[in-house]
Amino acid sequence: MLFFQLDKEQTIPLYEQLYIGIKNTITNKQLHVGARLPSKRELAEFFNISQTTVELAYAQLLAEGYIMSKPRVGYFVEEVDSLPIREITSVLPPQQSVTQTAFATDFSTAKIDEDAFPFTIWRKYAKDVLDTPFKHLLQTGERQGELALRIEIANYLHQSRGIKCQPEQIVIGSGTEQLLPMILKLLGDDMLLALENPGYSPIPRTQLEQVAIPIDVDQDGLIIEQLQTTNANVVYVTPSHQFPTGAVLSANRRTQLLKWAAKAENRYIIEDDYDSEFRYIGKPIPALQGLDRHDRVIYLSTFTKSLMPSLRVAYFVLPPSLVYRYQEHFNYYSSTVPRFEQHILAKFMKDGHFAKHLNRMRKTYRKKHDKCIDVFTNYYPQITISGDAAGTNILISFDHEHTELTLQTMANEKGINILPLSNYFLTAKRPSKRSFLLGFGYLPLDEIEAKLHHLMAVWMIPKK
Ligand SMILES: Cc1ncc(COP(=O)(O)O)c(C=O)c1O
Repeated sequence: MLFFQLDKEQTIPLYEQLYIGIKNTITNKQLHVGARLPSKRELAEFFNISQTTVELAYAQLLAEGYIMSKPRVGYFVEEVDSLPIREITSVLPPQQSVTQTAFATDFSTAKIDEDAFPFTIWRKYAKDVLDTPFKHLLQTGERQGELALRIEIANYLHQSRGIKCQPEQIVIGSGTEQLLPMILKLLGDDMLLALENPGYSPIPRTQLEQVAIPIDVDQDGLIIEQLQTTNANVVYVTPSHQFPTGAVLSANRRTQLLKWAAKAENRYIIEDDYDSEFRYIGKPIPALQGLDRHDRVIYLSTFTKSLMPSLRVAYFVLPPSLVYRYQEHFNYYSSTVPRFEQHILAKFMKDGHFAKHLNRMRKTYRKKHDKCIDVFTNYYPQITISGDAAGTNILISFDHEHTELTLQTMANEKGINILPLSNYFLTAKRPSKRSFLLGFGYLPLDEIEAKLHHLMAVWMIPKK
């Protein structure tokens, strides 16, 4: 029999309550397979509800295979075990699940300072934009990104990076990792790509091995002579602060690189200027794009370091000669960044808050950067520091009896996240010394010294 109640005061419709009640009775085996259910009239009288309500509930149970109907005889309970109920527990086997280990100390280069973000101002713009005067933002926006944001980016690039461009040349997308493959697609199937080695690449290594030519990097950045000996016609570079070594492409090599690109019609330089906002030594390095006289540089940058990685906003600036080709190739692509976010960011920039935030972060990161350098110079002279002219990470190198992998495991076991330089090589080539990337952006200033001493102790590197 049916031992459940229906509650007319509930927000769940009566037919649904009835359906749930009967379904539970069947799955709990309180009604055995083949048992006859009350007729619609009997059930309606029993619960004091309409026959239509019962009809709706029975229809749902029939549709889901809990009951069957024998015309002019009645409704009967179906075999429940044979019902197509599939429980989805986990899509990935446990060892592959995408959980990230929380480390007590995180020297990751991917994280930023969390304490200096201007939440109050950001919230104000978010509230402004998420309101009826902006209801048109509910519709699909411009394919290359909102004009308001492209204007702000063009102004910012002009003032801070010496880049002259029109908003029409800018394409906004959800991160470098989304935009870089798009640029490569634009440059065509017969393109031959050269990449810095070691280097950053959001393109999976397996794909890269087939399509890319690795070019070595030294203390002056990409070795242009090596590039010149290849058939590559496109090169991806991080000239202002090479990732991961931190080298700055020397003035001489910049000229060489631009000359290389100017030599053939189909040669292009993809300049990734991901963290140029934070420079600690000397004057800001001008972007290659600003020096290019032959329309050969595609400038690529992101708000990941300057604002937050979770915003997922990056952009590229096309040379005028590629804008038409872009519009032809990608006229079916909608912008991948939500319009509301784009307008929040545009207003934040327009009212000068981005510039203020950068000034504040420059000071914050400089203090953290100087603290790291001080600790190594004062206590661990056996450690060589490089790549420290800009950005939010430095490279430390030293001799050690253990391999980089062992050192990484030792650190991880003590709750420290740090990555070896060898992770970023595209080839089997390895640095002669043990080298690690030390991101200082995320760590609180007053904890840096203790955390560095802890890391050195874990690696058994003695203090002076
Ligand atoms: C060289 C380089 N370019 C770009 C980025 C940013 O990528 P995205 O815009 O996808 O966050 C990073 C990330 O840290 C990077 O190291």
